[in-house]
Amino acid sequence: MDMIVTKDLCKIFKSRKSSVEAVRNVNLKVNQGEIFGFLGPNGAGKTTTMRMLTTLMTPSSGYAAIVGYDLLKNAKEIRQKIGYVSQKGGCYEYATGYENLMLQGRLYGLSKASATENASKLIHAFQMEEYCHRKVITYSGGQRRHVDLAMGVMHSPQLLFLDEPTTGLDPTSRANFWDEIKRLRSNGITIFLTTHYLDEADSLCDTICIMDHGSVVAEGNSLELKRQIAGDIIEIGMDHTYFEQACNLLKTNHDIKESILTETSLKLYVEAGEKALPQILPQLVEANIPIHTIEMSRPSLDEVFLRKTGHSLKNETEKEVSQ
Ligand SMILES: Nc1ncnc2c1ncn2[C@@H]1O[C@H](COP(=O)(O)OP(=O)(O)O)[C@@H](O)[C@H]1O
Ligand SMILES: [Mg+2]
Repeated sequence: MDMIVTKDLCKIFKSRKSSVEAVRNVNLKVNQGEIFGFLGPNGAGKTTTMRMLTTLMTPSSGYAAIVGYDLLKNAKEIRQKIGYVSQKGGCYEYATGYENLMLQGRLYGLSKASATENASKLIHAFQMEEYCHRKVITYSGGQRRHVDLAMGVMHSPQLLFLDEPTTGLDPTSRANFWDEIKRLRSNGITIFLTTHYLDEADSLCDTICIMDHGSVVAEGNSLELKRQIAGDIIEIGMDHTYFEQACNLLKTNHDIKESILTETSLKLYVEAGEKALPQILPQLVEANIPIHTIEMSRPSLDEVFLRKTGHSLKNETEKEVSQ
């Protein structure tokens, strides 16, 4: 069974002054047992889509079936089958991790005995023994996210939604968290997560759906997406005042399939870098264009993103980190 199917899902936020088309005709299919990643920059429409799929927001138009139930008709049944961990998390800071788990279990209608059993299992599985009887307010970011995740699966959902689960975590905590998510998958839980981290999508997700400005722009596994950009990339760093001259010179070079300008470089997509570079370089040198750097690479997921959207996700993430 498909865990999620959507057909032309849309969300328009209307106010008196403006109208924001946050999600446009999104068509998805999420298979049972996979980690499905929604990758996109801030404002792409990831959270809005997730809030619709988790019954927290009504779509403006379109259709969705979650765990086989109609989103518009069977919200109650869907809520029993899914878990949802929002970006901010949902634990009560002045209670302990253990108390939060128990509360969550009881809210989902588990008996005290079942809640206790599930909480103990999760505390053991997520190695939370050391801190689970301390108040959440004393936890590190990583410990807090573990409690959030454990709360999300207290009622043994078949499908778990995680909104930006590792945003703000240090690299070690992120790696630990990825292991926990993979373990949940090996226990048969389907996971739908959103992220704006390329490496997270690349190494964690079985299927990646790239979203930008409310629309899905590409979908597939990491390898399939990268294969869409065949060949090599030659990146030549130069002052932007030379861009026009360089582009005019290289226009006649048939090795170049496509070129893109970044802030500080000219990116050339070629079939075989080792053949193309010895042709390209002398052309630029003869024209006295000062070259700062030359780099040759295979396509990365960010290349896919850049080609599909016209902008780089890596630059945006770096900007955010340095702010
Ligand atoms: N309640 C709302 N009212 C108006 N606009 C909203 C609302 N929620 C989100 N948006 C807008 O919808 C777009 C998508 O937002 P969101 O789904 O939060 O993106 P993401 O999770 O990918 O960062 C953004 O332009 C955002 O400002
Ligand atoms: Mg979001």
